[in-house]
Amino acid sequence: MNPDQLKREVASIDWWHTIDLGHGIITPGRNDTPQRLPRIHMPEDLTGKTVLDMGAWDGFYSFEAERRGAERVVAADYYVWSGQDWGSKSGFNLARKALDSKVEDVHVEVMDLSTETVGGPFDLVLFLGVLYHVRHPLQVLENVASVTADHLILETVVDMVGTSRPVMALYPDRELMGDPTNWWGPNPAAVIAMLKDVGFRRVEIVWRDPLPYRIARAFVNQFKLGTPIHHSLRQSRIVCHAWK
Ligand SMILES: C[S@@+](CC[C@H](N)C(=O)[O-])C[C@H]1O[C@@H](n2cnc3c(N)ncnc32)[C@H](O)[C@@H]1O
Repeated sequence: MNPDQLKREVASIDWWHTIDLGHGIITPGRNDTPQRLPRIHMPEDLTGKTVLDMGAWDGFYSFEAERRGAERVVAADYYVWSGQDWGSKSGFNLARKALDSKVEDVHVEVMDLSTETVGGPFDLVLFLGVLYHVRHPLQVLENVASVTADHLILETVVDMVGTSRPVMALYPDRELMGDPTNWWGPNPAAVIAMLKDVGFRRVEIVWRDPLPYRIARAFVNQFKLGTPIHHSLRQSRIVCHAWK
């Protein structure tokens, strides 16, 4: 692809992910994705593996799995790709073309996720930043488990941190980050309990937001969104790895 034309096309898109497309062109993502990549602990070598990236948006993690040697990668999404709010599928389409990638794409609502709808099961499933957007988290985790042959990487908002019993906070309005598409914030114990309930044998939390960051963000959220500090302080993000 001609670099000047690529630059013009990149500039016309509202990007979520920051993706290096070569020729010195990096997409201006709202999310500093390369900086976030280490926290999900994606295996360095995915040679011969099949990977599903559920909720792929611009596809950064799908392209990264392909770069690490995966034999087949399926990027799946619904909400953003249907042009509802937030963005579109244009970034994914352009990045796939620019990277000469073979990542497959499937439009699927996560409530309809199954081996039939995405052509699985997959050795590795990425489920990053989606769980708190769904109305029926346990049902959705059942669906995610049904397409996972071996290994799941889940990244999510957690809430009610510090409560040892498995509980979830409900966001009926815009309580979480002012976004009405956020529904549930499980605590870490609830994430682990739900993953075990849907059939994962071993679950490990491999990353959590550091406390100083949570404190700083609580003040920012109070200033910007009016979120009470004592609510924000109990919210965090975690990355879990789970194995069948
Ligand atoms: C916060 S973004 C995370 C994007 C990417 N996985 C990441 O971690 O950077 C949430 C993604 O999940 C998708 N999503 C949200 N609800 C969905 C649903 N019910 N079915 C399918 N995709 C959904 C959105 O379209 C969006 O791409």
